[in-house]
Amino acid sequence: MRLRYSLLKPGPIGMPGAQMNNEEINIESVLAEDRVFEPPPGCSETLGGAFIPSMEAYETAWRRSIEDPEGYWGEVANEFEWSTPFTEVLDWKCPDARWFVGGRTNITDNCVDRQVRDGHGDDVAIIWEGEPVEDGGPEIIKLTYRDLQRETARFGNVLKSLGVEKGDVVTIYMGMVPEVAIAMLACARIGAAHSVIFGGFSASAIVDRVNDADSKVILTCDGSWRRGSVVPLKDNVDEACRDLPGVQSVVTLRRCNNEITMHAPRDRDWHEMVSAADEECPCEPMDSEALLFLLYTSGSTGKPKGIVHTTGGYMVYTAHTARNTFNLRPDEEQVYWCTADVGWITGHSYIVYGCLPNRVPTVMYEGAPNFPAEDRFWDICERHAVTQFYTAPTAIRAFMKWGDEHVQRHDLSRLKVLGTVGEPINPEAWMWYHRTIGGERCPIVDTWWQTETGGHMITPHPAATPTVPGSCTLPAMGIDAAIVDENGEELPNGTGGLLVIRKPWPSMLRGIHGDRERYLETYWSRVEGMYTAGDGARRDERGYFWIMGRIDDVINVSGHRLGTMEVESALVAHDTVVEAAVVDMPHEIKGSGIAAFVTLASGTVEDDALVEELRRHVGQEIGAIAKPDMIRFTHALPKTRSGKIMRRLLRDIAAGRDSNQDTTTLEDASIMDKLRGNEES
Ligand code: WTA
Repeated sequence: MRLRYSLLKPGPIGMPGAQMNNEEINIESVLAEDRVFEPPPGCSETLGGAFIPSMEAYETAWRRSIEDPEGYWGEVANEFEWSTPFTEVLDWKCPDARWFVGGRTNITDNCVDRQVRDGHGDDVAIIWEGEPVEDGGPEIIKLTYRDLQRETARFGNVLKSLGVEKGDVVTIYMGMVPEVAIAMLACARIGAAHSVIFGGFSASAIVDRVNDADSKVILTCDGSWRRGSVVPLKDNVDEACRDLPGVQSVVTLRRCNNEITMHAPRDRDWHEMVSAADEECPCEPMDSEALLFLLYTSGSTGKPKGIVHTTGGYMVYTAHTARNTFNLRPDEEQVYWCTADVGWITGHSYIVYGCLPNRVPTVMYEGAPNFPAEDRFWDICERHAVTQFYTAPTAIRAFMKWGDEHVQRHDLSRLKVLGTVGEPINPEAWMWYHRTIGGERCPIVDTWWQTETGGHMITPHPAATPTVPGSCTLPAMGIDAAIVDENGEELPNGTGGLLVIRKPWPSMLRGIHGDRERYLETYWSRVEGMYTAGDGARRDERGYFWIMGRIDDVINVSGHRLGTMEVESALVAHDTVVEAAVVDMPHEIKGSGIAAFVTLASGTVEDDALVEELRRHVGQEIGAIAKPDMIRFTHALPKTRSGKIMRRLLRDIAAGRDSNQDTTTLEDASIMDKLRGNEES
């Protein structure tokens, strides 16, 4: 367990129980962080009235949500439309939750059709901006709720015409185009589930996920724009389909007009199908616990896991947290922008499903933050008058590096709330965000959560919570978060331990698709009766939570989750590689980078060309985000006498640290000297 940033105050910090592979924690440096930022004066008014206007209000509401969860969530759920009312709020048999039992609803109805019924059909739901910038500026599409209703209905009929039925899983592998949101909502409309695969993943990553989900239909684009180039999505799908005999239909949206091959009868053209489709397609009433989507994420084994989210609880929780965390209020001239990709949970919950029920326009941007120039995000904020802005620390650090002048060219005075997610934010980046982007007047909501949790778990509330740079502060409504040891004993403030959630919450994962054992083992075996998040954390003397990082073999690279074993499997799949060990290393922009130690088949030439070849190979096996930042060749890996790779030693080497770790258990102590001697090569 290691800290990537110096987030801690001086003082004794132990991590009883939070040890991985029997490794000691290694807290690199310790920093006093006692700056406290109260919500700015008038914050509540600028937000059109805060849902949670003070700490007192937070504490009262939170206490009630914990003491009477059924009362609390029953009331929240009744703000939504149910075709059949639920009869019971929660049925909890640890680790299995059923929320809003007996209720039937449809999330697309609550996101879209309901707004039209309520007279808001002409309000803007999605503001989309393409990446390319022509003379007349970028392409912008504004979709109203009525547009979304029509388009999701037509696409729902397209899916039906392809034989998609309730409960089927449709795979979506598209760029950030408005149609990706339409596709997700269309699936939910007809009661099908979706599995969105991030467009940066490779063909073989598609194969694993489509096979696991047993999808018969894939939705894709010819290509997607990224920093002025075309990512060939359809080619990747074609390559994947060679190993996917079960795929019956591939529907391709034309976006970049790059050359693609259409394979009849499997391949269909998106626009042709949509123009032939009827505009009538009712929302299917779905059981509250019906599968809404699978989203694959990395864990500590090589195989990505399909996290299961269901309809009612996810709908209620994501909309409620989006509202509270960003204080989303319709009719207050708010425009909300989350810069994530819909291929990740942040895009699912806080671009699409959590925002639309709150009736605040949500911005979707297609491309890179630095195209055509490093001010693209701020240009978008200014032109669309963005009021709530949500991004990741890795992006903030990149902007810091690119320089303040790109920000200063733009009027960001409309911004009211800033959010961050995906990895711990270092105090330097937090302060820069606060000053340079927020003009010292925007509260920062540092939201801690996971693919598995569906929505925000620990987060400030903008008009209530005093913030401290680097801390995600306090639990959201209904969330009983704690720091415990392996026995489930709560640890005193200041002591690091396992971050757990002790009570069920509506949007919690319902399982790992097709792998009950792994579900039980990963989340519920470590501490009896509690959800173990896989993060180490501590609370400070205010009770604020500080996330210290993963305690398993997961790395957050640029806020994206990758398993070290996935990267190792990809490396050993290369002909020249005999063995590989992958660890995280500090990275100025990405937070964590990937370091790989590789032993080669004898006779292989160790040169730069091979380093590049292996990087390319990992890119092909998983996707560009998984390419190692550093590859070091070694004739052997440091192992204990029982054959376990000593990753902590490799981490020290990757970080360029002098290791003061005990190496007496090493089988061959000379390896370390060699590895270190090798350092510059
Ligand atoms: C990390 C992303 C510190 C954490 C929503 C978690 C964070 C993993 C924060 C989940 C934060 C996410 N501060 N760490 N505000 N938010 N993390 O599933 O390690 O892609 O377990 O979900 O990201 O990543 P995932």
